[in-house]
Amino acid sequence: MRHKKKPFCVLVLAAGKGTRMYSKTPKVLQSMLEEPLLYYPLSAITKSGFNDIAVMVGFSGETVEAWLSQVFPDVKVLWQKEQLGTGHAAKLAQNWWSEYENVMILPGDTPLITSDTIRIFAEKHISGGGCSFLSFELENPYGYGRVIREGTTVRIVEQNDASDEEKKCREVNSGMYIFNTGILASVIDKIQCENIQKEYYLPDALLLIQNAGGSVDAVKVEDPSEFLGVNDPRQLAEAAAVMRGRILDRWMLSGVKCMDPLSTWIGPKAVLAEDVIIEPSVQIWGTSYIGAGSRIGSFTTLRDAELEENVTIVGSVRIKGSKIGRDSSVGPFVFIRDKAVLADDVHVGRFVEIKNSTVSSGAKVPHLSYIGDAEIGRKTNIGAGTITCNYDGEKKNRTIIGDNCFIGSDTMLVAPVVVGSNSTTAAGSVITEDVPEGALGVARARQKNIEGWYLRKKNIRGGN
Ligand code: UD1
Ligand code: CA
Repeated sequence: MRHKKKPFCVLVLAAGKGTRMYSKTPKVLQSMLEEPLLYYPLSAITKSGFNDIAVMVGFSGETVEAWLSQVFPDVKVLWQKEQLGTGHAAKLAQNWWSEYENVMILPGDTPLITSDTIRIFAEKHISGGGCSFLSFELENPYGYGRVIREGTTVRIVEQNDASDEEKKCREVNSGMYIFNTGILASVIDKIQCENIQKEYYLPDALLLIQNAGGSVDAVKVEDPSEFLGVNDPRQLAEAAAVMRGRILDRWMLSGVKCMDPLSTWIGPKAVLAEDVIIEPSVQIWGTSYIGAGSRIGSFTTLRDAELEENVTIVGSVRIKGSKIGRDSSVGPFVFIRDKAVLADDVHVGRFVEIKNSTVSSGAKVPHLSYIGDAEIGRKTNIGAGTITCNYDGEKKNRTIIGDNCFIGSDTMLVAPVVVGSNSTTAAGSVITEDVPEGALGVARARQKNIEGWYLRKKNIRGGN
């Protein structure tokens, strides 16, 4: 007995090189708002509720596959070693899509497609039948396949193969189709590569289906902005600009106060709570989270940064893969990175770098310090110019500083070293040994004053 086919699957074509990008990076991994191009259609598909998804990879496929296994582990990877065209790519996926009643096929290089459009298109098709594809009109249709309607038939002719007359046609193919798999299977082997590019074109399936008596439904959409294909760096920037506007609108409509949308960049994965204030020239990338009431000062870049409520970022700050607790203030000119964790009510000021360290609540690192691989206790004050000497040339060592300490200005803490709670280090000390709880650690040369030095110097030189 034949098992019943599942209703619907989605195939994303992403094997092409993207010749017009002039890049070693495959087109679908080109960065748009700091995420690969392919992230966008895949997140739209997943959001629209479809779970049976495959991606056809080819050019630099190992890199694409590695990225997919990290970010979309449930997506199936199929291989097209030689890129002989979109029709060839669809053919190579036949074993997979044969398990389903219908297959949606769309290009990996149209990042602006939305989950609503995918869902509505699928619903229309399922109630309709054989094959449907989306088309739209463009002022300048250059580069796209033209939709030529003749009587009751519709066919697609590619830019390079189009006659002068056909080139004038402004209705173009979106590259997004849904096929009944039985119908697609009956024509897929008949696609030829007799065209300028010597490629097997998937759009040729449409005419073949009609010639065999099947129906093709060309669904014309009103808003073409979702189907912008990214083929060159200019279109990449164009698509990024549209996506950026959408993301900003989304956050502003949920309460984020963005002082200058024109200079604010927020990636698609970032999450911002209500009443966040963003000053001009800010970038928020990756999985960053900004808690309610926080303010992000100008010239700040956040990447995978987690900010709790009411955090003040004064400006010119970089935070990468780190957490800042509530009511803390950071900046200006601060770099916090590599799993640093600042608890609540911490103050980090001017020209400070903090790496892979924890700073407990109420602690302060106000000026000119490097804190690397360290633990800083509650309410401890780190004097200006303090440095944790964490690297001995071979490995990184930890510095542990207890609660309520006063680390004098310009202290060098040569790690591994422990400074107990309630202790003090004298300014300018090079601390190489542990300082016990409650003690004062002094590690500097004693001062000697040489009286009359100015006059003696003048006499030696024979001055007058
Ligand atoms: C394609 C359509 C065109 C449509 C346009 C919409 C064809 C022949 N033409 O043109 O009608 O107007 O999209 O954006 O399909 N790919 C593979 N394997 C291949 C070739 C391509 O996986 O062998 C992938 C690419 O990675 C890309 C997608 O298919 O994501 C489309 O290929 P591309 O070369 O960009 O086609 P267009 O010239 O844009
Ligand atoms: Ca394209």
